[in-house]
Amino acid sequence: MSEEKDSTKAEYWTDRWKEGNTGWHRQEVNAYLIKYVDELTGGRAKVRVFVPLCGKSVDMLWLAEQGHAVIGVEVAKKAIENFFLENNLSFTVEIVKMAAESEPVDKYKCNEKDITIFCCNLFSVTEDDVGGRFDAIWDRGSLSAVAPAFNDNGKRYTKKMRSLLASDGNYMLESHYYEVDRGTRPPACISEELRNEIYGEDFIIRELEVNRLEEDPNRSLSFALDLHYHLFKPKES
Ligand SMILES: C[S@@+](CC[C@H](N)C(=O)[O-])C[C@H]1O[C@@H](n2cnc3c(N)ncnc32)[C@H](O)[C@@H]1O
Repeated sequence: MSEEKDSTKAEYWTDRWKEGNTGWHRQEVNAYLIKYVDELTGGRAKVRVFVPLCGKSVDMLWLAEQGHAVIGVEVAKKAIENFFLENNLSFTVEIVKMAAESEPVDKYKCNEKDITIFCCNLFSVTEDDVGGRFDAIWDRGSLSAVAPAFNDNGKRYTKKMRSLLASDGNYMLESHYYEVDRGTRPPACISEELRNEIYGEDFIIRELEVNRLEEDPNRSLSFALDLHYHLFKPKES
């Protein structure tokens, strides 16, 4: 079972894409992204939005349709190619050298919309690889997917996000909170205490909203959970 494997490894995720075990994917644009997009962009037009661990999220298409430039990072080639295919978009692939990757990686560029997706490990991406720091980060299921499993409670992840965000940028996070013990299996449980510990040093934290989802046996997550929406702004360094 893929749940028993190590979610810090690329194979865990590429296997899930191969098996079609992608219960997190939504066909519709995230309602909270739509609701809070002005907070995310600071009300600015044409900003550069980063979507870490983007999967085949349709949020990328929506953000591009609002006039923003979207840059995603995703380790599974299948997710990226399905994103283009399922949204009737064409792409070109450029092989690029990343500063911290020994092997070159595939950079997918959409022909119709301003969407670029790098097929590589998030942790090897630097601001130079992606054309400079981002104005905004939209993080749905990204922290929850990998961070707490790295035995540092997620600090490496939040430091990476800070290194990629402009000093006047905004970072919006959807995180999960629940009361059953699932170890480090994604989606990870992010308590207020953990959030403060891993974001507090580098970011000013604002909680936007909490959405309670009751247990539903038809859902891929069969326990009640709270979805928390947060807005982070970099602290002055
Ligand atoms: C829980 S899914 C979230 C996908 C997307 N954010 C969404 O809302 O649909 C996590 C995604 O991150 C990818 N992934 C996991 N670890 C990664 C890493 N270290 N670097 C890049 N992508 C990664 C997986 O293949 C998977 O598509």
